[in-house]
Amino acid sequence: MPNLLILGGTTEANALAQATADLGMPAIYSYAGRVDKPRPQPLPVRVGGFGGVDGLVAYIHDNEITHIVDATHPFATQMSRNAIEASAVAQTKLAALTRPPWAAQAGDDWRHVPDIAAAVAALSGDPRRIFLAVGRMHLKDFAAQPQHHYLLRLVDAPGALPLPNCEIVVDRGPFAEADDRALMQRHGTKLVVSKNAGGTGASAKLDAARSLGVPVLMIDRPVLPQRTELTSVAQVLDWLDHS
Ligand SMILES: NC(=O)c1ccc[n+]([C@@H]2O[C@H](COP(=O)([O-])OP(=O)(O)OC[C@H]3O[C@@H](n4cnc5c(N)ncnc54)[C@H](OP(=O)(O)O)[C@@H]3O)[C@@H](O)[C@H]2O)c1
Repeated sequence: MPNLLILGGTTEANALAQATADLGMPAIYSYAGRVDKPRPQPLPVRVGGFGGVDGLVAYIHDNEITHIVDATHPFATQMSRNAIEASAVAQTKLAALTRPPWAAQAGDDWRHVPDIAAAVAALSGDPRRIFLAVGRMHLKDFAAQPQHHYLLRLVDAPGALPLPNCEIVVDRGPFAEADDRALMQRHGTKLVVSKNAGGTGASAKLDAARSLGVPVLMIDRPVLPQRTELTSVAQVLDWLDHS
């Protein structure tokens, strides 16, 4: 029987947790501890960093982990790199549960940038009303463009923010297109800045942008070293069965 470590914090990780719990498979769900009230899981949960690659290797040994599924967000690259390295050192099987990136469709007006730094640079110029949907961790980077009025949607109410002009909405996905359209109309959004997370939980803002004719500055995904990539819970269960 596998003893599974799920690196979580995403809708996909939650679905995998439910599936393994339903099967009665030994598994533990790991949160980074970024939000005040993490979603409850039907599995034992641990919270907080492992302490880099060495810490993760020690955790794998101490808890007799046989398989790791990295179901973290596509932009959680440090955790994903650590998982690749630690699984090689500890000789533990690793697969990533990933979701395809979003692709522009008819009616979209997207400009792609390779990373956060390029997104910040692309915002130079006159003040605009911008829906900055990049998460709390990256807001400080955008302090270099303080002239804009930013709409921020965050899971928890933030403390002091590095952006002088902003409106904060505290909310947690999944979001609906009609709600995001109303939010953007009320704010007068003229540009959406988004990481290419993929999946359904946060795609409503892109649907809303399309229907309102609002352009999107799309931050492309970071590239990770080679690893086993699976795209559905069913594929993960099959991998657990056969590896
Ligand atoms: N980045 C995003 O846009 C985004 C969006 C939605 C949700 N999330 C979720 O938020 C969490 C943190 O993302 P991040 O981008 O800050 O990660 P990150 O930059 O790749 O990770 C930084 C450090 O946080 C710890 N960490 C990250 N994910 C962890 C997990 N699931 N369990 C235990 N420790 C974890 C690790 O610390 P140690 O080195 O000490 O082990 C890691 O080295 C992840 O669970 C991710 O799925 C991220």
